[in-house]
Amino acid sequence: MTGLYKSSIPKIMLEKINQTAEFLRSKVSEMPKIAIILGTGLGPIVDHMEEKTYIPYSEIPNFPISTVEGHSGNLIFGCLGNKRVIAMQGRFHYYEGYDMKQVTFPVRVFKALGVEILFVSNASGGMNKEFVVGDVMTITDHINLFPENPLRGKNYNELGTRFPAMTNAYDKELMALADKIAEEKGIRLMHGVYVGVTGPTFETPAEYEFYHIIGGDCVGMSTVPEVIVANHAGMRVYGISVITDLGGKDVTQVPTHEEVQQAALIAQPKCLEIMKELVNRC
Ligand code: HPA
Repeated sequence: MTGLYKSSIPKIMLEKINQTAEFLRSKVSEMPKIAIILGTGLGPIVDHMEEKTYIPYSEIPNFPISTVEGHSGNLIFGCLGNKRVIAMQGRFHYYEGYDMKQVTFPVRVFKALGVEILFVSNASGGMNKEFVVGDVMTITDHINLFPENPLRGKNYNELGTRFPAMTNAYDKELMALADKIAEEKGIRLMHGVYVGVTGPTFETPAEYEFYHIIGGDCVGMSTVPEVIVANHAGMRVYGISVITDLGGKDVTQVPTHEEVQQAALIAQPKCLEIMKELVNRC
């Protein structure tokens, strides 16, 4: 073998995943089959978890450290309703400077721990004209506009196949279950396509318009890398997005990070209801 993979880097990656999984196993006796990635403003969902073990990212071997305001940076093992879950309070964003392998490293570790279902949440800007700020949306599909795919580079068959399909990147049964729960609880739950971009700039009006024309209903700076890796790893995924601002040619309001956090906090109870019930019933 020459060139790219001559070094020991590939082996180090697998070793790192196993080392981190081993560390977490030593901290927690019972391993959950469900992991939840909590997006902007949604961290407080952990207040509804019981029997919690907090592990700060800074104490976890090989974990990057989250730097963004509003992302606390803890892995939390505990119970949400009747199930054991691992919650990621704060995620790693590409715009922070992490590479795609770092952004998706926790998902690899979850798989190594035996996680089968991944729930992801995020804040996003809505382009769909039917959306209002504070809406929650089931992510039915995504468009990857990140400049890099997290699976780029050597493929490890131990981790997944070289060319994974993304046809069912978001699990249809989980989507249907979320709809049922939303209906029962009287929550307006939208459906839509999430466009994943690097940020950290919010979009220009023309960009929001463009993302809508190509098939997007909302746009955000996360989720797509983790969902790609979760699918590569054979996990089932459910994604929910909180519409924290609106964008398009006719929209003059300027989005800010504070506004995004505020809107996400307001929508949090709806997300919590849906997530909690999904976890209970899946
Ligand atoms: N654009 C990109 N990411 C976002 C937005 C947005 O308008 N709102 C929340 N995250």
